[in-house]
Amino acid sequence: MSKITLTSESVLHVPDTVDVPFITGDGIGAEITPAMMKVIDAAVSKTYGGQRSIHWLEVFAGGRAFEKFGTYLPEDTVKAFADYHVGIKGPLMTPVGGGIRSLNVALRQGLDLYVCLRPIRWFKGIDSPVKHPERVNMVVFRENTEDIYAGIEWEAGSEEARRFFDFLKQEMHVTKVRFPNSSAFGVKPVSEEGTKRLVSAACRYAVAQNMPHVTLVHKGNIMKFTEGGFKKWGYEVGEDAFAGKVRMDDCIADAFLQNALLKPEAYDVIATLNLNGDYVSDMLAAQVGGIGIAPGANINYEAGRAIFEATHGTAPDIAGENKANPCSILLSAVMMLQHLGWNEAADAVTQAMERCFEEGYATADLAKFMENGKPLGTKEFADALIASLL
Ligand code: NAI
Repeated sequence: MSKITLTSESVLHVPDTVDVPFITGDGIGAEITPAMMKVIDAAVSKTYGGQRSIHWLEVFAGGRAFEKFGTYLPEDTVKAFADYHVGIKGPLMTPVGGGIRSLNVALRQGLDLYVCLRPIRWFKGIDSPVKHPERVNMVVFRENTEDIYAGIEWEAGSEEARRFFDFLKQEMHVTKVRFPNSSAFGVKPVSEEGTKRLVSAACRYAVAQNMPHVTLVHKGNIMKFTEGGFKKWGYEVGEDAFAGKVRMDDCIADAFLQNALLKPEAYDVIATLNLNGDYVSDMLAAQVGGIGIAPGANINYEAGRAIFEATHGTAPDIAGENKANPCSILLSAVMMLQHLGWNEAADAVTQAMERCFEEGYATADLAKFMENGKPLGTKEFADALIASLL
């Protein structure tokens, strides 16, 4: 039996040989995912002397699923991630037409993965556009299921948009729509439950990682009930369950974008809504030069489900050329090891990466900005990482 199980308190029980479903992904997925598995297997084996191992189970989504099964997201894939609790995925192409906006969004919604977790730190040797990238060390908790991203919107000129406007005018006495006949409409649901589970997760993480400072990032000055509600409910979590354990403050989103550039050392754990979180995590990743190597995970802590993922796309322009950088999916796998409680193996991979970068070993996209850069192919970089494992 090598399946992860869950206790009634939502604690993962991880066997020494653990089944982990993975999606290879499209485009460069075929190169970076095997490279990631090779490095992770080597790190786990070396760290635990063969006592622990990962049993990888391939499941399908995206173009590879369509070729095999005629569907982009087979039900069995969603079921595997639900049953095995923890999995990892490479990048997926977004199908054109066909009613699926994004396979990633479909997976997140299907499994109610309400936290999008993005840690942001700098690696010595990586080129950055700011003077002190080493001062950035933040973890973003982005709400993943609500907000204007919920996909409730109607196209300008459609019958639905007209009916929605009629409802606003007649039932809600709204007079502020400037150009009603040519307006598209979107709805921004933000709930107390949705906010509180996200902010609670951020606080638990802050306590566990010994960085007990959480900042709520919002636009509650303008959107008083949605973003303002997020701030109010967020503080309630800080004052109730985490009183005395977490220092909580808040920052208006536009001020946060300035402050994160000017005094990044002032922030630790960030809890924010879906759209703000999208902007904030990409800006912070750019600040440490890591937009192409940033890791991420989508998690539901209560259900014990988590999918770790490469945050970039399928890079069709370089696919098949052994040029792709595996660091995004690899650092996501490091997060996965931490999530499993295998911190020693996680640290071993991170330290091997630090050593490689310091010596100038990296794939071409990073090596070209390093003074001592020695560009390697995807496979060769994975081998260099394995050789650097202590
Ligand atoms: P992209 O991220 O695939 O590529 C943008 C640029 O970054 C390209 O020049 C590419 O060569 C480079 N790049 C990306 N990852 C790299 C890596 N690991 N190593 C070296 N260079 C890398 O974005 P694009 O071109 O907009 O999207 C291509 C496809 O990927 C689309 O179908 C899109 O929908 C999908 N996509 C999937 C995502 C996911 O599964 N999480 C996220 C973003 C896009």
